Amino acid sequence: LVGPGEGPIVLDVPAPAAPVRVPTNRRYLMCPPEHFTVEYSINPWMDPSRPVSTELAMRQWTALKETYERLGHRVETIEAQPGLPDMVFSANSGTVVDGKVLGARFRAPQRAAEADHFRRWFLDNGYRDVVMPECTNEAEGDFTWTGRYLLAGTGFRTDPRAHAEAQEVLGVPVVSLQLTDPRYYHLDVALFVLDDDLIAYYPDAFSPGSRSVLRRLFPDAVIATEADAACLGLNAVSDGRHVVLPVEATHLAEQVARRGFEPVFVDISELRKSGGGPKCCTMEIRD
Ligand code: ARG
Repeated sequence: LVGPGEGPIVLDVPAPAAPVRVPTNRRYLMCPPEHFTVEYSINPWMDPSRPVSTELAMRQWTALKETYERLGHRVETIEAQPGLPDMVFSANSGTVVDGKVLGARFRAPQRAAEADHFRRWFLDNGYRDVVMPECTNEAEGDFTWTGRYLLAGTGFRTDPRAHAEAQEVLGVPVVSLQLTDPRYYHLDVALFVLDDDLIAYYPDAFSPGSRSVLRRLFPDAVIATEADAACLGLNAVSDGRHVVLPVEATHLAEQVARRGFEPVFVDISELRKSGGGPKCCTMEIRD
């Protein structure tokens, strides 16, 4: 600024504070880990020779559910099925945007039967717009709704052709992203949405081209470190204010707190033995 006949006017404006983050009430669908085990290996986290406590998984899952309820969210549950140890990861079984449901088609035969249990849950709960996909699609494992775009991962599980299918079925713009690190085999272990237009992600989990896309769309994003990603810290759930994330993700928690969010820690150590965290156990139903 230059005043009339004077030198430049220096304004003493403090650095902008982080905006006040306002939570919105969410509705989630979860499945208790009653039959949780690690008896096959379909990602590098799963080691069937390592003991797993179903009871501890159940306690951790219950604490996660109670965390959501304490934050004012509505949690629906679907009945766990024997013989489907990964059914606790409900996020993989449907993508719901504006009340439209796109079901799942799993890559691994061990998980295939989960998709139909969820399809039936939606039909039993009054959803009429339920479409089962032609192409392999692990739902919110690889699809993340930002409020504007559906970010869509591929490389390990979801077929890239499923991205076009999701765009057509849900009628939302899809942005394809290439995952490159087998430890981060699903998009939801490499990236999460904090709020409309604000995401956090681990760049090294993506191809160079996809990294550029993310930088262009989200120049302001929270950039996660290797340590943030390695505890599945990016498998987090935000309601626009509270960010539920694994207790080990302290550095990431600090980053999001600096942006005005409130970290809420949960212990998911037992579920992580299967490669899952809080978000994997949480399908968001957006009516
Ligand atoms: N064991 C499961 C699998 O490999 C874990 C799924 C985790 N879910 C997720 N949304 N990333 O399929």
